[in-house]
Amino acid sequence: MDASATATPSSPFSVLIRTASHAQHTEAENSSFMGDLLGGRLGVEAYARYTEQLWFVYRALEDAAEALRADPVAGPFVQAELMRTDALERDLAHLRGPGWRSGLAPLPATEAYAARVAECARDWPAGYVAHHYTRYLGDLSGGQIIRDRAERTWGFARKGDGVRFYVFEEIDNPAAFKRGYRELLDRVPVDDLEKQRIIDECKRAFDYNGDVFRQLGREFPLSA
Ligand code: HEM
Repeated sequence: MDASATATPSSPFSVLIRTASHAQHTEAENSSFMGDLLGGRLGVEAYARYTEQLWFVYRALEDAAEALRADPVAGPFVQAELMRTDALERDLAHLRGPGWRSGLAPLPATEAYAARVAECARDWPAGYVAHHYTRYLGDLSGGQIIRDRAERTWGFARKGDGVRFYVFEEIDNPAAFKRGYRELLDRVPVDDLEKQRIIDECKRAFDYNGDVFRQLGREFPLSA
């Protein structure tokens, strides 16, 4: 469904933020790296490299989470069942072996992305909400498509090591969880100007993801 045709300024915030990021979402889906990855044209090395980038981003999101738990704006979004760092670490141990941490370095785009998340978490909790939304609601949605493809392409056990990042063990009903999440967005206690700033930060979050895909695409240049 294309929500972009239906949003008006008085629409709920969850609709506004989804609508505002719709075009960039399509771009992300159609990036050559994602296309090659989901099309089964890349080796497991590319998938591992991508998973490493996610680890840096989720470290930034989740290292900050505890300190934000009591924050009136970001606090309600901090939910234990979303946490991905442990799952990513199990996936990386599977993909790279027990020494996965040694020599691990982020791509420049990933470093910039993680630094921005950390900065928002420290100085601007509403901006953190933008980053939280962009990652977790996406993982609960399109992430399931990526998991299915990864299992088929590289032979990971269904919902097992290698794709645990995409498996939210503690969320029985993702559709219901997403509805609850959108209600949190709709109730976020900030004024319209600040909501607009959150939307702008969400677009920035999509830009960071696009930059990471572009750098990964350069490293694994199949579509070139
Ligand atoms: C090939 C990659 C991707 C696919 C196949 C995909 C697919 C999807 C699908 C099917 C939905 C469900 C929409 C709904 O529930 O109505 C969704 C939602 C979402 N995706 Fe993606 N996606 C991809 C990449 C991304 C990326 C890279 C991001 C950002 C980092 C992202 C962020 C989101 C967000 C935030 C939502 C929730 C939209 C909302 O309902 O507010 N997605 N995606």
